[in-house]
Order: sequence, then structure tokens, then C-alpha cells
Amino acid sequence: MNEPALVALRGASFAYEDGPAVLSGLDFEVREGRALALLGRNGSGKTTLMRLLSGGLRPQAGGLAVEGEPVRYDRAGLTRLRTTVQLVVQDPDDQLFAASVAQDVSFGPLNLGLPDAEVRSRVAGALAALDITALADRPTHLLSYGQRKRAAIAGAVAMRPRVLILDEPTAGLDPDGQERLLATLDGLREAGTTVVMATHDVDLALRWSDDAALLTPDGVHTGPAPSMLSRTDLLRQAGLRLPWGVAAARLLRAQGALAATAEGPRTAEELAAMATASGRPDVGTAPAGP
Ligand SMILES: Nc1ncnc2c1ncn2[C@@H]1O[C@H](COP(=O)(O)OP(=O)(O)OP(=O)(O)O)[C@@H](O)[C@H]1O
Ligand SMILES: [Mg+2]
Repeated sequence: MNEPALVALRGASFAYEDGPAVLSGLDFEVREGRALALLGRNGSGKTTLMRLLSGGLRPQAGGLAVEGEPVRYDRAGLTRLRTTVQLVVQDPDDQLFAASVAQDVSFGPLNLGLPDAEVRSRVAGALAALDITALADRPTHLLSYGQRKRAAIAGAVAMRPRVLILDEPTAGLDPDGQERLLATLDGLREAGTTVVMATHDVDLALRWSDDAALLTPDGVHTGPAPSMLSRTDLLRQAGLRLPWGVAAARLLRAQGALAATAEGPRTAEELAAMATASGRPDVGTAPAGP
């Protein structure tokens, strides 16, 4: 028998007060160790789904389970959930509130009642993981947007969750900031954290995630990222286009440069390597000058 999912919503329905149903009868699983990208149109319910997974919202029907155990929404149940699942909201200003970065990052661990030495070590570790040790004593409101984003993620990382859920973590970051964040997330994944992120960036999802979940009007569709992100029908419903890697793979197959069953490239470097391997070293290199 399969192990139960690390976190799962079963038959979950949710509507905001006086609003229409945002999610109804939704089944959604986070599997341990599988990096998961959640994609869907503006207003499709990604943030709502993430808040249901992290216990910030409670489904009106159905329920949330951690390793098959139903979550109880009392103080003890929610504290236990918080040590398993941490959500980083999209806007860091909705998350940061303490005077300095270090104070903000220490808030969660202090609230768990951990000893001071443990809190200090977690804060130091989280700041180092996010590459913001030098910002420890800086007031959060004086940081740049990208720095605030990293500080907000550090606060969640300091809780040492088994599942880290990030709502559009790369939005608003410059390309170098995006790359550094992805490297940080890779480090957390290697250390055993299961990472879930909402994103509108199909190329990033193809490159980064093991599984992709597409939120469409008829529900959520989850599966391995390369196959989900080549489903033109679902992508259209989710307001997304085909990732360039999938489009490139189709071209390579049409040209006989990629076997029908082979996986397509996820990065420009992989595309260049495939082109070279297929005996077309001109593809993927810079065009010759005039
Ligand atoms: N606090 C709220 N009160 C009432 N309705 C809300 C609230 N938050 C979200 N909604 C509504 O719920 C629906 C889903 O919103 P949600 O924020 O989950 O979408 P999303 O997929 O995260 O969108 P985006 O890509 O814009 O972040 C939308 O119709 C939205 O207007
Ligand atoms: Mg959202």
C-alpha cells in the first residue's frame, strides 16, 4: 500500500464570506520529497489552496490530513501543523512585522517555546540559508523588496518545516535574485524539505519541479511536471502557454533530432547539449557574425 501523503486535502471546499465557492470537492496531495509547482490563472484559488494546506483557512467541507491523520483546528493541532507546514505569503510586507530581520526570523521558534540556544542556532541557520546574515540587525522596513522576500522565507525556514509552501516566491525578483532563490530552495530540498510553490512561470516550473498541479475551473490536475506542462488543453484553461522547453522538444522531434519518447530540454544548457549530441553543434551556440 502507498504511504499516506505528507499533507493532503480531501474533498475540500472553500468559499469566502458572501462569495462563491473558490474550491469545491478538491483532492490535493503533497508527497514527501516531491517539489511541486502550483499553477493557475489569477483568481483561480492558488493562494486559497495554500492557506488551506497551512491551516490559515479551514475548509467548510472535507478536511486536511498530515500523514493520514486528520488535522484538528484547536491550538495544539494548529501548533503541530505549523511545525510541519510553513507558508510564505506572496507579499513580504504581509509577513514581516518585527523591528529587525533577526527578531522577525526568531519569532516563530520563540513562539514554539524552544530554548534560547536552539532559537539562536535556527535563526543563524535560516539567515545563512537565505544569504542574509549581513542583514540580521537591519530594520525590515528599510530592506529592498528582494531582501524582504528573503527575510520572510527565512522566518519560515527557521521553523524547520517538513513542507515549505511559497506563494509566488520569484515574483518581483531580478533574474540573479531568482537564480539565488532557486539555489537556496535546492539546498533546502537536499536537506529533506518538501517545497511547494505557486508560480505563473511555466519555464521555471518545468525546470524546477518534479510535479505540477494545474488549477482549472473543473478542479486541480496533478502529475509529473514534463507531462502536465505539455498538456496544451489544461495550460490554456489555466491561462498559461507552453513552456519553451516543451516547444523546443516538439521542434527537435519534428526534425528527428530527439527520440519520440525522450524528455525535452529543461534549460538552455540542456538544449545546447541535445543539439550537440544530435550532430548539430550549430544549434544553441551564438550566431556567427556577419
Ligand atoms: N479575503 C478574501 N475575501 C473574499 N474573497 C477573496 C479573498 N481572497 C481571495 N478571494 C477570492 O477568491 C478567489 C481566489 O483567490 P486567490 O487569491 O486564491 O487566487 P490566486 O489563484 O492566488 O490568484 P493570483 O494569481 O492573482 O494570486 C478570487 O475570486 C478572489 O477574489
Ligand atoms: Mg495568489
